[in-house]
Amino acid sequence: MCGIVGYIGKRDCADVLMDGLEKLEYRGYDSAGIAVFENNLIKTVKTRGKLACMKEKLETEGKPQGFCGIGHTRWATHGEPSDINSHPHSNGRVTIVHNGIIENYAELKTFLKEKGYAFISQTDSEVVACLLDYYYSERNPLRAITEVVKELRGSFALGILFKDFPDRVYAVRKASPLIVGVGDSEYFIASDIPAFLKYTKNYVLLEDDEIVCMEENGASFFDVHGLEIKKTVQTAEWDVEQAQKQGFPHFMLKEIHEQPKVVEKTLKSIVKNGVPDFSEIGFTDEFMRGINRIFVVACGTAMHAGIIARYAIENLARVPVTVETASEFRYMNPIVDKNDLVILVSQSGETADTKAGLELAKEMGAKTLAVVNVKYSAIARAADMCINTLAGPEIAVASTKAYTVQIAVLYLIAFRLAFARGKINEDELKKLTADIEKAPDAIAAILKKEDECKFIASKLVNVEKLFFIGRGFDYALSLEGSLKLKEITYIHSEAYAAGELKHGTISLIEDGNPVITLATQEDVLPKTISNMEEVKARGATIIAITRKETQFAENTVDMRFDIDNLLPDALTPLATVCALQLIAYYTSVLRGIDPDKPRNLAKSVTTE
Ligand code: AGP
Ligand code: GLU
Repeated sequence: MCGIVGYIGKRDCADVLMDGLEKLEYRGYDSAGIAVFENNLIKTVKTRGKLACMKEKLETEGKPQGFCGIGHTRWATHGEPSDINSHPHSNGRVTIVHNGIIENYAELKTFLKEKGYAFISQTDSEVVACLLDYYYSERNPLRAITEVVKELRGSFALGILFKDFPDRVYAVRKASPLIVGVGDSEYFIASDIPAFLKYTKNYVLLEDDEIVCMEENGASFFDVHGLEIKKTVQTAEWDVEQAQKQGFPHFMLKEIHEQPKVVEKTLKSIVKNGVPDFSEIGFTDEFMRGINRIFVVACGTAMHAGIIARYAIENLARVPVTVETASEFRYMNPIVDKNDLVILVSQSGETADTKAGLELAKEMGAKTLAVVNVKYSAIARAADMCINTLAGPEIAVASTKAYTVQIAVLYLIAFRLAFARGKINEDELKKLTADIEKAPDAIAAILKKEDECKFIASKLVNVEKLFFIGRGFDYALSLEGSLKLKEITYIHSEAYAAGELKHGTISLIEDGNPVITLATQEDVLPKTISNMEEVKARGATIIAITRKETQFAENTVDMRFDIDNLLPDALTPLATVCALQLIAYYTSVLRGIDPDKPRNLAKSVTTE
């Protein structure tokens, strides 16, 4: 959600900032802006709209010439997207960019108005610039920042320029992501690594309330009291190549195609001697035996991965699993105790609600396990144990490969839990592990049938609504298939347990409405087929995603997509999901939408 960049060094600052913002575009935004010191004066250019609008504005207004500055892509939370509400915001001697929400902005605004400050935007962020100016005295920026941090409630990552210091960029964060890139006599701040990966792979993670002051010849770090602290420089494992499209028209398509490789890599990182082994992170058999209940807490696609986990864990390991959407879990006063395991699933590791769910679980004494794709992210660091999925950078807003590696890991957890708790023996554990190791081939087989998915997509381009139905694992997966389609095609879609449709929603079925039926689960196949017939009888167009050998009565199915028999029923979601992703992708493209940047959505949701 929103992107922050900042730079000090010898390069053309405006170019570095614009380039960095481009790399953060995937996070979702509606306006952009930069502020650069030009001949010791801050020059700001900002506008509503995409970076293309910014580029135009830079041409007409003149690109600021300088070596030190900050930039921002805004995802509006307070005040409509407009030129005035765009960041950077200035007041007095201070210019800032802000990511997050200042929850007490109204009271701060009243206080500052009484002190004579005037406001020009509707944003919550502008109070931060004013408050910094209010506390700034005796040419001491650090003191102003520490005072302000103590007063702000909510979440913030801030890039700050002080008029008196044209050779410094300050930054501070709390609950919103911000990292410091460490180059050779040049320094960066950014919401995410790809923004500076081109210049350096070295970075420092800022913890909550930590402050950085970057100058050309060094970066110094301070705690909330203004005391200098030592920080370790880490090296990013991702490279520039991985964060580029590599010839694919969109990141989303590239990421769909990466799935065989990243699933293999993720499985290999956990499987030892033919069985999943989590002992390295303390997730041992003994620990697994002591668990009473499991909660999976996550949002969106990651929460859908949790629903697959529920089916897998309950079936195999017989441990009760509750899946909660994190924004509910955190406020529902859940019944969780020290014998429970709370699994937090998150691609970004920064999702505010999931992070809050984690903190609540810890407070209640539960053990926490994070399954995250971004190493060292907030959730990864705060959980008791952490498993890193190895999808590599996921840039497209709609999650694809991150989901698939999440479910791969959750299946492995289910297998090991079942073994640890005596529900399966070692041979069975080995067999299940060998089965899941076929997933990369099963995914590759689906990807070979991309054209078939494109054909199905061509039939969906002009529909107004559609439905997904399935039972068991197919139902769990249909939730994700439906979300994918909604996110990037803007077609209204609903996913239903196939047997539930007749309890109400079937009234929506009209002539020609497509119903994508997932029918890969042998044990419930006759039931699913009956549900298919029910909607067919009401005029639906049936698109069946099923196994090759499944037979339907004549004229039941209008289109079918067959999956190969490489995986047992319980593991088919690993492959089937790729067909659903491709159908959503092509429907989006055929509708003239950019699937990488769907409207209203942000990649990493760091606000509530
Ligand atoms: C995925 O396509 C979505 N845009 C969204 O639902 C996402 O999965 C959700 O916001 C959770 O993000 P996270 O995995 O980074 O925590
Ligand atoms: N709350 C701020 C605003 O609405 C910042 C939003 C963001 O993170 O982009 O301007």
